[in-house]
Amino acid sequence: MSNSLSEDRYPYIKVKLSVNGRDYEVSVRPYERLIDVLRYKLGLTSVKEGCGRGECGACVVIMDGKLVPSCLVLAVRANNKKILTLEGLAPEGKLHAIQKAFLDVMSVQCGYCLPGVILATKWLLDKNPSPTDQEIKEVLGGQLCRCGSYLRFVKAVKLAVKYLKEGKVYFDIQELMSPP
Ligand code: FES
Ligand code: FES
Repeated sequence: MSNSLSEDRYPYIKVKLSVNGRDYEVSVRPYERLIDVLRYKLGLTSVKEGCGRGECGACVVIMDGKLVPSCLVLAVRANNKKILTLEGLAPEGKLHAIQKAFLDVMSVQCGYCLPGVILATKWLLDKNPSPTDQEIKEVLGGQLCRCGSYLRFVKAVKLAVKYLKEGKVYFDIQELMSPP
């Protein structure tokens, strides 16, 4: 009874999404959030929930070139949008230069904030390939890290800038794991 009431009142709506270069059509309720569609309907669990109210940055994705907190976006508002999550940053078997740089400087402890921090870095470097320390801090200031890894984040972003300037965009995971 209560289900059919909810169905009448909030019928499913079909939404088309292009996520990490792949097209999807999903049925969503008008009140469903983008974060839930990405995590629970598409299985993209790199998108983390922290505060659930647009303050921590754990859930950010790049949507049509904008860095957005997916906890604040209704899935219906993402209709026909292009979305990038961490899963789409590098081809299968590769790490993106930003991921490699964050690993190199051991810039995290628990890592919960990292998908959002890496996507925020990607967004920054797409717009500004040579950011100053201050510009890095301004963008990553929106990404909360309860382990307090902030200073190492700046180092990691600068290393990513170096890799990208050297033309090293992707790194082969197998090669990184092989003993020297
Ligand atoms: S969970 Fe979306 S900003 Fe914190
Ligand atoms: S490394 Fe733990 S929240 Fe950032």
